[in-house]
Amino acid sequence: MTSSTDSAASMSFAADLLQWYASYKRSLPWRVNQDNAYAVWISEIMLQQTTVNAVIGFYNRWMERFPTLTSLADAPLDDVLKHWAGLGYYARARNLKKAAEEVVRRFDGVLPISVDQLMTLPGIGRYTAGAISSIAFGLEAPIVDANVIRVLCRLFALHGDPKTSSVLQKQLWHIAESSIPTGKARDYNQALMELGALVCQPSAPQCIRCPISRHCEAKRTGDPTVFPEFGVTKKWIEVTHVSCFVELDNRLLIVQRPLEQLWGGLWELPRVAVLSDEPVDLAAKRAVFETVGLIVDCVRPFGSIRHVVTNRKVSLHGCDATWSGEGEPKALACRQFAWVDAAELERYAISSPQLELLAHWRKTRLQPGLQY
Ligand code: ADE
Repeated sequence: MTSSTDSAASMSFAADLLQWYASYKRSLPWRVNQDNAYAVWISEIMLQQTTVNAVIGFYNRWMERFPTLTSLADAPLDDVLKHWAGLGYYARARNLKKAAEEVVRRFDGVLPISVDQLMTLPGIGRYTAGAISSIAFGLEAPIVDANVIRVLCRLFALHGDPKTSSVLQKQLWHIAESSIPTGKARDYNQALMELGALVCQPSAPQCIRCPISRHCEAKRTGDPTVFPEFGVTKKWIEVTHVSCFVELDNRLLIVQRPLEQLWGGLWELPRVAVLSDEPVDLAAKRAVFETVGLIVDCVRPFGSIRHVVTNRKVSLHGCDATWSGEGEPKALACRQFAWVDAAELERYAISSPQLELLAHWRKTRLQPGLQY
């Protein structure tokens, strides 16, 4: 830790930052009533790995359907996932539901205020606990997210890779905590994030508009974009998946994924990862056999889409298939299955890539009379 990071100079940047925030903060739905810890919690979880613009609609619909923590605790998981469908990283929704139930059981339905107690709840790490504790309850708890990392690494010209250097991580949490102006944690924490989002952006920082540029060590010594010093960039893994579209009497077979897996609790067309050298149509046949134990015929690829999930670039193929009606489907590698028509599909929580493939299937299918 350099002494400058703890000095009076660091406090004067905080005052400039707060003044800027008061004039330039965005008006966002979760900033309407920040005393509502439940609303702060929901917004902070939605904002993880997701942009503000993408979150707003989901947040408003969520708060309409689950206006209180107890309404979330009482809701069926399927309903919760349906309101999350499209946001990605579905463990966040499952953890919200689990944590809400736990708050009802352990804390009489009221979110605790301390970082330590908040961190005992599923899906709440140090960042989210700090956000709830500071934004909703005004406690002087720090928060360090990607925006804060960028702002602080530039402001103090901090060396090291924030992803791998525990020394730097400690330093960032320390600065984030020690620079909070007394009694101003709610605004200060959000101001740091807001500055990162609106001004101190990754590749094109707008230093000319920055309220704290005169304090910025990276600007003073050269090019702020050299900070943070991220090391090797992430390695992408290319994978191929296939989903099989099986119809029976104008109904499509969909399956619900096991809860403990990626996309757990969501519904999809039976899907597997295609093995190397495995023809896509055979993999599609295998998808149906492994998930529900049916043998399908006339498997025909109709197209594909591409999507990204964490470090994987996925080519998702779709195949049509027919089923003779022989045998009984069983929930094998799925939680349950259903045969649904167009109107019913709307009611199920289905991930964005699967919805995109469904849209593709509707467009390219040979029998235009059947509408999904
Ligand atoms: N990103 C995540 N949470 C935020 C907040 N409360 N304000 C601004 N940006 C954010």
